[in-house]
Amino acid sequence: MEETPLLWLLFLTAMLSRTTNTASLTVSPSSSQLFEDKSVSLSCEEDDTSAEWTLRRNTTRRKMSQCGAGWGNPAGSSCIIGLTVPWDSGVYWCESREGATSKSINITVTGGPVILQSPVLPVMEGEDLTLTCKTKRSSNLPAGFYKDDSFIRTEPAGHMTIHHVSRSDEGLYKCTISSVGESPPSWVSVTGEEVTFDFRSSFIQIFT
Ligand SMILES: *[C@@H]1O[C@H](CO)[C@@H](O)[C@H](O)[C@H]1NC(C)=O
Repeated sequence: MEETPLLWLLFLTAMLSRTTNTASLTVSPSSSQLFEDKSVSLSCEEDDTSAEWTLRRNTTRRKMSQCGAGWGNPAGSSCIIGLTVPWDSGVYWCESREGATSKSINITVTGGPVILQSPVLPVMEGEDLTLTCKTKRSSNLPAGFYKDDSFIRTEPAGHMTIHHVSRSDEGLYKCTISSVGESPPSWVSVTGEEVTFDFRSSFIQIFT
């Protein structure tokens, strides 16, 4: 069986690559859009607690700014923004001391009357995508949904579900609630099945 050593190598590589340090950023409430004056908690969920992840963000005002440095209150591996303001809008990510980064998340904080709740992370192809259009007081008013500025449809209870998403569902979504207003737009991305395989670092671990 000539392929046996190769299979072992692949097996070892797969096992070792699972130990590569990663962190994922979670947001609570889990929404890419938030009203102002709300509290939001962001956490770096790490699989190696020794790695010391910090949360950073880019806004229009400041780049690469760390939680606690003028915004947010660090609380362990989390960062809490007590009262959101529109200039908290931006891209957020976790970063280790070694410079490894998590996937980043876009958050829009609006002073307007309507938000669109969409997933903060990419949706997998084949999954369902649910978008919710809400005002500060209600999340079940009739709402119109738009993708890339084209009207899709009105949903009587403010929720639109797209079943079995494909790449073509990727785009910039927004919603409107009549006589209340329009949400900011948010990008929804759709990804294929993810295979993360850090071959180089695993290879080095085997042969050193
Ligand atoms: C944040 O801003 C810096 C400086 O402009 C840029 O190099 C970096 O790619 C940005 N990070 C993200 C995740 O957008």
